[in-house]
Amino acid sequence: MTVKCRIGIDEQDEDADLERFVEQVAAAGCETFVIHARKAWLQGLSPKENRDVPPLNYARVHRLKAQHPELHIGINGGIKSLESCQAHLDAGVDSVMIGREAYQNPWLLASVDQALYQRPGPATSRHAAARAFRPYIVERLAEGARLNHVTRHLLGLFQGCPGGRRFRRHLSEHAHRDGAGIAVYDDALGLVDEERLAEIA
Ligand SMILES: Cc1cc2nc3c(=O)[nH]c(=O)nc-3n(C[C@H](O)[C@H](O)[C@H](O)COP(=O)(O)O)c2cc1C
Repeated sequence: MTVKCRIGIDEQDEDADLERFVEQVAAAGCETFVIHARKAWLQGLSPKENRDVPPLNYARVHRLKAQHPELHIGINGGIKSLESCQAHLDAGVDSVMIGREAYQNPWLLASVDQALYQRPGPATSRHAAARAFRPYIVERLAEGARLNHVTRHLLGLFQGCPGGRRFRRHLSEHAHRDGAGIAVYDDALGLVDEERLAEIA
């Protein structure tokens, strides 16, 4: 069992109440916590606003880890680079959870092995990653999945690259259609010039 929670809600005290909560849940047998380092304001903010508006308090999560070396404490919230992942790990937490950035810029994850574990990553380029992913898509389609249910997670693959918008737009416009097959994916990939990208890199 793992628990993911905020550092508090509404008027709760970020120190005493979080500590009490973690102690009680740990006493029930949970050893792994992921803490989104901001409060949720249940009175007055929407779920979306609650992901951005309440201020981040990373130091509170670092302190929680220092107070509970026996627990696995992961940190989450607003983390967008592998440099900041490393900084949080250096501050003592056991793991880092990346939410929206992994979605908006999935290529970030291709550098995790190299940057954090000093070992080669799974793909040398965005195109190589896209090609390696292709058989998985074909398998899902054969099972009856719709193309967009798979490709929606890839829309940000070429974020910031020449042709990235064309790739995204092609998938957005065609992958949800009845009968959309792997050719839609291949066509989308063809809209991003691999050689040009390699030159820029
Ligand atoms: C569309 C969306 C749905 C989410 N649903 C959940 C959820 O069901 N349970 C949960 O614990 N967090 C959920 N989250 C919050 C994320 O897990 C994460 O805590 C939050 O986005 C902050 O991390 P980030 O800044 O890295 O995205 C959701 C986030 C988004 C953007």
